[in-house]
Amino acid sequence: MIRELKKNIYAVGVQDWDRRLFDELIPLPHGTSYNSYLIKGSQKTALVDSVDPAKYDELLANLAEHDVKNIDYLVCNHAEQDHSGSIGFLTEKFPQAVVVTNEKCQGFLMDLLRIPVGRFRAVKDGETLSLGDKTVEFILAPWVHWPETMFSYLREDQILFSGDFLGSHLATTDIFACNDTVLEGAKRYYAEIMMPFRPSIVKHLQKLDTMDIELIAPTHGPVYKKPFYIVDAYKDWSSENARNEVVIPWVSMHGSTEAMVKHLTEALVKKGIAVKPFNLTKTDIGELATSLVDAATVILATSTALVGPHPQGLYAAALVGALRPKTKFLGIIGSYGWGSKAVETIKSLLANLKAEVLEPVYIKGAPRKEDFEALDKLADAIFEKHKSLGLL
Ligand code: FEO
Repeated sequence: MIRELKKNIYAVGVQDWDRRLFDELIPLPHGTSYNSYLIKGSQKTALVDSVDPAKYDELLANLAEHDVKNIDYLVCNHAEQDHSGSIGFLTEKFPQAVVVTNEKCQGFLMDLLRIPVGRFRAVKDGETLSLGDKTVEFILAPWVHWPETMFSYLREDQILFSGDFLGSHLATTDIFACNDTVLEGAKRYYAEIMMPFRPSIVKHLQKLDTMDIELIAPTHGPVYKKPFYIVDAYKDWSSENARNEVVIPWVSMHGSTEAMVKHLTEALVKKGIAVKPFNLTKTDIGELATSLVDAATVILATSTALVGPHPQGLYAAALVGALRPKTKFLGIIGSYGWGSKAVETIKSLLANLKAEVLEPVYIKGAPRKEDFEALDKLADAIFEKHKSLGLL
């Protein structure tokens, strides 16, 4: 399926309707797409990014449908294989094609795909590539996801090919979709993929403000006809502005931790604080990640298995620590049988967050009256902390 973005510029990528897991880690409830863009200049033809190698034949079919007999440049904005994975095949199909990317990305492609050095042209930040009547400018964007990521900007048509940045895991036939489903998908994508890199993202969003952009064409999901629809959303997500929300990932082996979560949830709700509890044995990890984007407070709630956190609690703590949300306050609650190092272990996994750790409520056995009172005190503390941020 080929879609025209503008005259002589086409989306030739592939929808992956059935894919349900990315990197063997990230659930994909709506599939995904691998967007690849063909630019036909008056003198040269470029393909910006390719597709997952499993979909190479579909990319070839799309190119054949458009009667593409020659590609001069294979532009690579990002080395991850869902976009770069077909470049090796394309260099064989189009022996004269030059792989155009930055030096760091070139190194990755040589390592990951064993593309020989002679096939590359390495570009620097701000360098341009002429296709005749069209000019591609390269904008290095390190750590907007990976260390080698970059954007390509088609000057005459004011199209920003943003790589994974600003994208969404969403398979759709509507190339210019612009609706709540796209925004939800983009937020989930931001949470799962981009959130760990907030400082770099803020910097690059500022750069976009200085550019004239008519279309943003990412490597996953629809193209944005209203660029600031997604840019403004990213500015909000990546800002320090937190919401009056508490996220509680929890796991309970025999009901004690669950009873604590229920009690704390009710106490917080009574105080006007929104709560999102996630039972880790059933939850969609993407939904949990999305909820972390805005919440002011995260409470990790876990039973002890042997002497450490239950593996699901361990996973949730590792996930929160890795995603580095804007969380301002952290709490740990739960229960143990004969002994526990769960609090220390969870604290260490969350040490890189710039969040204040509240007094844990970690108890032996089933919760008693005084334990529920301790949870009420924790709810009071969260209320006061949210109030201090002006969230209440
Ligand atoms: Fe869509 Fe980072 O790959």
